[in-house]
Amino acid sequence: MAKQYKNYVNGEWKSSQTEIKIYTPATGDLLGSVPAMTQAEVDQVYAAAKEAQPAWRALSYLERAAILHLVADILERDAEKIGTVLSKEVAKGHKAAVSEVVRTAEIINYAAEEGLRLEGEVLEGGSFEAASKKKIAVVRREPVGLVLAISPFNYPVNLAASKIAPALIAGNVVAFKPPTQGSISGILLAQAFAEALEEAGAPNGVFNTITGRGSVIGDYIVEHPAVNFINFTGSTPIGEGIGKLAGMRPIMLELGGKDSAIVLEDADLKKAAKDIVGGALSYSGQRCTAVKRVLVLDSVADELTALIQAEVAGLSVGMPEDDAFITPVIDTASADFIEGLVKDAVDKGAKEVNAYKRENNLIWPTVLADVTTDMRVAWEEPFGPVLPIIRVASVEEAIKISNESEYGLQAAVFTNDFPLAFNIAEQLEVGTVHINNKTQRGTDNFPFLGAKKSGAGVQGVKYSIEAMTTVKSVVFDIK
Ligand code: NAP
Ligand code: G3H
Repeated sequence: MAKQYKNYVNGEWKSSQTEIKIYTPATGDLLGSVPAMTQAEVDQVYAAAKEAQPAWRALSYLERAAILHLVADILERDAEKIGTVLSKEVAKGHKAAVSEVVRTAEIINYAAEEGLRLEGEVLEGGSFEAASKKKIAVVRREPVGLVLAISPFNYPVNLAASKIAPALIAGNVVAFKPPTQGSISGILLAQAFAEALEEAGAPNGVFNTITGRGSVIGDYIVEHPAVNFINFTGSTPIGEGIGKLAGMRPIMLELGGKDSAIVLEDADLKKAAKDIVGGALSYSGQRCTAVKRVLVLDSVADELTALIQAEVAGLSVGMPEDDAFITPVIDTASADFIEGLVKDAVDKGAKEVNAYKRENNLIWPTVLADVTTDMRVAWEEPFGPVLPIIRVASVEEAIKISNESEYGLQAAVFTNDFPLAFNIAEQLEVGTVHINNKTQRGTDNFPFLGAKKSGAGVQGVKYSIEAMTTVKSVVFDIK
């Protein structure tokens, strides 16, 4: 019988009356089930978290850091076991899934260390009217309170802990809602937090999980007045809805993207092709930071396309447990959506460099040449193994097309003219520009953010801690 997983609430593992069955995307096998929490059960989570916050906040940073280091140790110990389940649950190549867990442990360790460096400051008056000279402000950093962390299917463990660890080190308490497809992996992550918190004798309720379909309980968990900060990674439409429901509460939104790789005439085309293919197609393109279109100068477009075609020909296509580079996408609705984008482009004149092929949810990597701006694939996020190549006549045209996107996550520029690269980077309306490399989050201490519809707020360990703390200023008048 498939395992029934439980939620961690107030220091106990609890089931709910209704269960959600989780099947593997690649084979349709039953992997287990998770509770579909009711609103009343969510109320219990939030009440327990609120109750725990004063005692958690009262611990020293060193005490909280020690607990986080313990979580990281447990994840390193269990990386293979958790990675194996993660690989099955979201159809991610086995090695990549284990790496996700190891990277998660590294982020948690870094967050524990970074918390120790959190400092307040003392400000002196005096720049304004004469009387202000007598004033001193002691500016302290405080936790925001209860953080609701919501992670997406493509990194159900890593993009959970990158919220949870910075929140906890700062003295916040956490309710974690994993994606439904990814919730078993999320619960395995929660088991590591639970084990460490219990071993350290931390108060019950510091860290809790909420499972259930976002479409059913999403609005309730977000709108709830107990929540002080919503930290969300996922699609832009859901993120926009959360933004509206958040009202005046602070939020962090990491959303969709349409990252461009701009390739100039002087670029090392071989390296560009390799980076673009890796950037576009790893985990079958199901990464917010995937290269989602190439904007290449006309004079080198044919050569680059041929190099990309050769790279793609070397990619393995198959099942996650065989560690294939291209694995089935997360569900049939996604596969149908991807197919629709390819069909629209081909109908409008795009050339299939590698022939489009699909078996159930497994889609072979599809490079589309001669894509034009009237095609949906020039603008929409496939979240699948599709790479459109658009020819441009000038650098200015590349910047224009890149900036016309509603998204603004990242971009890559391939050139050996560094002053020009810097100039282009300044003009691109995105959070990060990579020079001569693929778009990617990280390293994880770097700021990670999206402009326009790609998000609000800045992630990255130090930045996440700052975001989930607030300042309190205590002002003295001196004689
Ligand atoms: P999604 O459908 O938006 O779901 C993300 C999370 O939100 C899941 O946990 C989901 O739970 C939950 N959710 C759904 N409806 C909700 C609601 N009304 N209120 C609160 N939570 C709700 O996204 P996804 O399909 O998992 O991930 C793919 C998308 O995420 C892509 O667009 C990708 O670009 C983006 N992404 C962005 C970043 C970034 O850092 N910028 C990183 C990764 C992914 P259920 O699973 O239960 O519905
Ligand atoms: O899917 C969005 C992730 O933030 C991408 O992270 O660039 O390390 O794969 P990554």
